[in-house]
Amino acid sequence: MKILAVESSCDETAVAIVEDGRKILTDCIASQVDLHRIYGGVVPEIASRMHIEAIYGLADQALERTGLTRKDIDGVAVTYAPGLIGAVLVGVNFAKAAALALDKPLIPVHHIRGHIAANYLAYPQLEPPFLCLVVSGGHTMIVDVQDYTKMAILGGTLDDAAGECFDKVARVLGMPYPGGAALDKAAVLGDEGRYQLPHSKPGSNPYDMSFSGLKTATLNLIHHAQQVGEALDVNSLCAAFSAAVSHTLVPRVIQALKETGYRKLAVAGGVAANSRIRRDLQTAAKSLGAELYMPPLSLCGDNAAMIGAQGYYEYMAGHVADMGLNAYATKTILGESL
Ligand code: KG4
Ligand code: ZN
Repeated sequence: MKILAVESSCDETAVAIVEDGRKILTDCIASQVDLHRIYGGVVPEIASRMHIEAIYGLADQALERTGLTRKDIDGVAVTYAPGLIGAVLVGVNFAKAAALALDKPLIPVHHIRGHIAANYLAYPQLEPPFLCLVVSGGHTMIVDVQDYTKMAILGGTLDDAAGECFDKVARVLGMPYPGGAALDKAAVLGDEGRYQLPHSKPGSNPYDMSFSGLKTATLNLIHHAQQVGEALDVNSLCAAFSAAVSHTLVPRVIQALKETGYRKLAVAGGVAANSRIRRDLQTAAKSLGAELYMPPLSLCGDNAAMIGAQGYYEYMAGHVADMGLNAYATKTILGESL
């Protein structure tokens, strides 16, 4: 089954064609990052307009690159939630029009379920059940992936997402948007022991976590240094910050692995590209004898191939939509896709 997949929930317009949920035939992306960088973050109205301008050309490009025709497409999958509402709407409206014109099923996909499904593209042998650490710009949670479309959230952030904190700290340090990757690069050159930052303490749910205290402490440290004219060792601060985020995430995931008895751990979302988190997960998984699935960096960030992968399994589970499909700014990953 060849699925034309569409992703437009934030600042990447993407169209892919994916076969049987596992094989990327093409993955076309038009990034708007350079434009939003001028403003230091995503400007929703600009994002929506740019999606409209890019999406039709990208769909044509996807067909051209694969040598397929419209008749070869068996279904249209689209991110329908969560995201910037105007941005998501562009993708949903395009997908509706495409499904109607092609007379093929319209398959709504939750963006975070898509991030998890990036693992199916990177590891064709991976099948649920497994545990997944989801760390994106807007979400941080530990997910029990019981089946392709059946999940439970074991715990997650009680306040900010890890990606939000990376971006905020990077921005205050003067790094260009989106700052997570730049902060990661700087951290590699630093000494993490040079600054002391707070780590999130366990609460009543051992899998829940908090990042706002770490974020505030880091910002206070930066502002204080600026106010008293003290030179900051930026690389070391980035290293201490990355270590603190990783120390918040990794032990909780490891505890969840132990308690669920799962031997398979996957990671998903843009922050899964972080070198410190990847390294700590590798060490921890090895000591437990668990298999670790980490998609390549190109599949950690937003892309449409992951939507095509999850779309296949949503379709197999009978989760299709009609022309009444709406876009949603927020939506849980649990339960039926709609
Ligand atoms: O999953 P994603 O592409 O978009 C959302 O669904 O939110 O995640 C984007 C987030 C941004 O916060 C970005 O700064 C962060 O992923 N990110 C990183 C790295 N690469 C991207 N954060 C830390 N280290 C990285 N190497
Ligand atoms: Zn995303």
